[in-house]
Amino acid sequence: MRRPNPLFFLAVVFLANTVSAQQKKTVPAADQKINTFINSLMSKMTVDEKIGQLNLPAVGFDVTGPVLSEGVDEKIEKGLVGGVFNTFTPQAVEKLQKLVMTKSRLKIPLLFGYDVIHGHKTIFPIPLGLSTSWDLDLIEKSARIAAREASADGLNWTFSPMVDIARDPRWGRIAEGSGEDPYLGSLIGVAMVKGYQTSSLSNKDAILACIKHFALYGAAEAGRDYNTTDMSLIKMYNEYLPPYKAAVDAGAASVMASFNDINGTPATANRWLLTDLLRSNWGFKGFVVSDYTGINELVPHGLGDLKTVSAKALAAGTDMDMVGEGFLTTLKQSLQDKKITMQMIDLACRRMLEAKYKLGLFADPYKYVNEERAKTEILSQQNRFDAKNIAEASMVLLKNDNQVLPLQKKAKIALIGPLADDKRNMIGNWSAAGDWKKAIGVMEGLKNAAPDLDITYAKGANLVDDAAILKQLNANGADIAADEKSADKLISEAVSAANKSDIAVVVLGESALMGGEATSRTNLDLLPNQKALLKAVNATGKPVVLVLMNSRPLTLEWEDANVTAILETWFGGTEAGNAIADILVGNYNPAGKLTSTFPRSVGQIPIYYNHKNTGRPYDGISNEKYKSRYIDSSNDPLYPFGYGLSYTSFQYSAPQLNKTAVKAGQPIQVSVDVQNTGKYDGQEVVQLYIQDIYGSITRPVKELKGFQKIFLKKGESKHVTFTIDEQMLKFFNADLKFAAEPGDFNLFIGSNSRDVKAASFSFGR
Ligand code: NOJ
Repeated sequence: MRRPNPLFFLAVVFLANTVSAQQKKTVPAADQKINTFINSLMSKMTVDEKIGQLNLPAVGFDVTGPVLSEGVDEKIEKGLVGGVFNTFTPQAVEKLQKLVMTKSRLKIPLLFGYDVIHGHKTIFPIPLGLSTSWDLDLIEKSARIAAREASADGLNWTFSPMVDIARDPRWGRIAEGSGEDPYLGSLIGVAMVKGYQTSSLSNKDAILACIKHFALYGAAEAGRDYNTTDMSLIKMYNEYLPPYKAAVDAGAASVMASFNDINGTPATANRWLLTDLLRSNWGFKGFVVSDYTGINELVPHGLGDLKTVSAKALAAGTDMDMVGEGFLTTLKQSLQDKKITMQMIDLACRRMLEAKYKLGLFADPYKYVNEERAKTEILSQQNRFDAKNIAEASMVLLKNDNQVLPLQKKAKIALIGPLADDKRNMIGNWSAAGDWKKAIGVMEGLKNAAPDLDITYAKGANLVDDAAILKQLNANGADIAADEKSADKLISEAVSAANKSDIAVVVLGESALMGGEATSRTNLDLLPNQKALLKAVNATGKPVVLVLMNSRPLTLEWEDANVTAILETWFGGTEAGNAIADILVGNYNPAGKLTSTFPRSVGQIPIYYNHKNTGRPYDGISNEKYKSRYIDSSNDPLYPFGYGLSYTSFQYSAPQLNKTAVKAGQPIQVSVDVQNTGKYDGQEVVQLYIQDIYGSITRPVKELKGFQKIFLKKGESKHVTFTIDEQMLKFFNADLKFAAEPGDFNLFIGSNSRDVKAASFSFGR
């Protein structure tokens, strides 16, 4: 195989620079206006004030990292702060903005950033759950509502979307992204950027998006957070970089450098990544912020002392320093020592000022301070209504034997489990400004959706019993109190509730704080005490519906083999309970599809659908020894990418092609008839995958290239057509050239990445 040629990058960078140098000759009028304004402002700024613009302390309500900023007010007055994060509400924002506008010399308005990740006050499902809706309009809507609420609450910048591709559910932050697929992940990233930023940042409810974590954070070795990433360029370009690039193309105003090491240079100090690729090659025009103390962490990464690493980070293309103050305390000295240039500081400062200008902050520093808007926009009826719809769309039916779901609305049910009557966990991790007390739990939801249900409740188990895990979670605010009753007593109450009922609905999973940052796990089973409860309830012989809440794929082989039905609900947000209840009683027919593979065991990780074939692929049946397989497990996942059931059933015809050869500029069309053959109206996500059979480099066994979410009344059929063009067949080859290669291709259409019907076509012949 040919190796990627590093000189190729230099050529790309050189070309890109040449092009951008040519483009600079004709500066559009709007940019000229910005430039004139910023030139004039910068001509008045001291070096300290310029460096001050690059400083982002954390101050206010939340702690989202290991240290907190100090003396912020004083620094604001001295012009040593460019923005703050973790401060919101119109009052709190106004106070700090006033400080800068009345006390600082140049009155440069502050940015106000925050982790508005899956909603601001009205909380939507965790991002992994949003992605399982496969509904780009709903996802954009969730970001739109989040931005409306956040902007009404004083904020003008969110640290979202996270577009890190993740194939390792041990990594707790898989919860914050859109799963394993670069194509779907790209579309979702774009939808979120649009939702946050709107058509113009000057709109009153637009906020800056921030693409994170650039880059490859989701590939942290062993699923351990903050860990190293070492990856070939081909893999990066084809499998991990596309969502970042798509979000850049969508106009995201900022990018956050990731914590991880990339092939020997941590992202925050990686000039190839932040300047050559991001700016020169992709044309990114916004600013780059480090992650929380990401610059300081270059010291333990082993790149030098704080002064050295701060200079390296700036030179690499990091414009803003989150919390660490390495820039604030060392850049001036580095300038004097000629370790960095004035041009570097100017460039970073200019980027910060440009973002503020585009938001309209120079015209009105109090643009985001409006108590009236805060009162009407935040947690409005409409927002909650939309949150319920979005939560419903995110949930995935994994199993439904004997059509045990939906429940009869007058059924006699035992509602069991530590998450069955819980509010605390419903809004999930990274629901920063969310108030769990405003959330609806499952019990409450069921009473709303079907008041005639006959419910006997039993907690059955503590959410977490394991002392070591409990200690860690509670140290970080999980508030999990051990029940006064013993584990045996809790289980026996649950068993007797089940015995008295026709059906048991058991609500289990993780604590919300077992997902998100710094929550890597090596064991993805249900916690032992919860599993013991489930086994005991199952032993009653009653049908068992397992409702899961969790931040990541779990290993559920036993559950899949033993319980009657499984509904994956992630953490559904403020309206979680209503959404779950609507699904359980059949007011809504589930249609979510997995975006990350569910492994059978941790030993299979990393496991993802778009893998390579190997030279000795295993057919899953034979007993031949020398095959790429395990001797103690199937290669197959428990639930594949794209998988999810409905209360109805869908039948697919064989794909029909209008031609069997794609030519440059001449796409072909492939269609299938999908029929709703079951008893309910329902939605289906029709998925198109393509395999490039032979290539100049090895290619995945299949890749998602299109999907359509359709609604079919019972009995109804729809003709679904996809267009396949050359663009879809392109990939980065060994020279990192993005091109389609002539040859034969397989295409697959179906309801998930495993259950598909195949056809083939050729390109360029
Ligand atoms: C660290 C996290 O990695 C990042 O995602 C987040 O935006 C910042 N902390 C700010 O809270």
